[in-house]
Formats: sequence, structure tokens, C-alpha cells
Amino acid sequence: MPRIVETIVTTTDAAGTPHIAPLGLIEDGDGWIIAPFKPSRTLDNLTANPYAVASHTGDVRVIAGCVTGRRNWPTVPADIVNGVRLRDTVSHWELAVERVTDDAQRPRFHCKIVHTASHAVWSGYNRAEAAVLELAVLSTRLAMLPPEKIDAELKYLEIAISKTAGPRELEAWGWLMDRVNAFRSGDADAARKK
Ligand SMILES: Cc1cc2nc3c(=O)[nH]c(=O)nc-3n(C[C@H](O)[C@H](O)[C@H](O)COP(=O)(O)O)c2cc1C
Repeated sequence: MPRIVETIVTTTDAAGTPHIAPLGLIEDGDGWIIAPFKPSRTLDNLTANPYAVASHTGDVRVIAGCVTGRRNWPTVPADIVNGVRLRDTVSHWELAVERVTDDAQRPRFHCKIVHTASHAVWSGYNRAEAAVLELAVLSTRLAMLPPEKIDAELKYLEIAISKTAGPRELEAWGWLMDRVNAFRSGDADAARKK
């Protein structure tokens, strides 16, 4: 299996309007693959404007926020490509699409890094950040998983939250749990919010 880096990907449409989404970048030699499912704004944008920016942030509220309808995170223009990056990010990569492998469900945009920059000092591993990341992924797959699997995952992830979370991780966890609870109570609209 290739290594995958979970990051915040910003893309722009033909009019220059940015879109922000958490996506996994798949390592591919010197390059990285962005694989958005059909249909998605990220897919449409990459087709219209073949550049992307990956912002590596330690603030997991951005990831949790994007999958719970909170996408309004501050951005600034990218350094060299046509797009934006997160304003508050440890580092970012600017990517240019070199070729596309089409697929009925999940086309693959093969990208090369054309620019990187660092903006802050990385502050180390935190188990609660990893737990929020896992719950964010889980929250996008609720309808595909058996309820007992969801319960078991939550029970495990809650250990890291209770032992190691700070205010940012607690806030992010709360947003995601609202989505999980909406799904459990049958509120399909709230549970689908992304
Ligand atoms: C950590 C994480 C990684 C994700 N990776 C992918 C991915 O590689 N491809 C994808 O289509 N969606 C991925 N998702 C789900 C997307 O973020 C979500 O569906 C998103 O809204 C994409 O649709 P959009 O471009 O229309 O916003 C991921 C979600 C999370 C939380």
C-alpha cells in the first residue's frame, strides 16, 4: 500500500473561487496523487484549473470543520500557482496536475510539487489530534458501517480524547460527535452535512 498523507486541499474553479476539503494525498514516487470521488467540487475544480495546494495544519478543527459544514477557514494566495493556501498552516505544498487517470468512481490526478514553504514550527505528536482525524474519516462513512463497528471505534478513540485533548481537539471532537449523533437519531440531512 502506498503512503497517504491526510491534508487540507484547496482548489479553485474557473472563476477563481476557492474550495477547501480534507483529502488524502497518495505518494507516487516523487509525485502525489489526488483521488477525489465523483461527484465532487474538488474533481470539478481540478478539471477546470489543474493546480492544488496542500496545507499541512496541526489544527484538526479545520478537518473536522470541513466535514461538518464549517469551511470558512482563512486563506491567503498561494506563492506561485493559481490558488490559495490556509493562512494558519505549518507548511504547504503547491501542486500541478501532470496527467489524469480517469475512473468511473475515483479519477486520479497525478501531481508534481512545484513549490513548498514552511510557516510555523511543528509542535509534535498528539494522540487526540490523531483520534479527531480518525473520527473525521469515520464520520464520512457512517452509512457504510455496521453500528457496532462505529460504537467500538468511538470507544477506542475516546481514550485518546479523554487523556490528551486540548481545547482545539475537544471542539473538533464535539462537532464530529454532533454529526455521529445526528446519524444515530436518523437526521439524514445533518449526518450528510459536509
Ligand atoms: C481525512 C480525510 C481524508 C479524505 N480523503 C478523501 C479522498 O482522498 N478523496 C475524496 O474524494 N474524499 C476524501 N475525503 C472526503 C472529502 O473530504 C469530502 O467528501 C469532501 O467534501 C470532498 O467533496 P467536495 O470536493 O465536493 O467538497 C476525506 C475526508 C477526510 C476527513
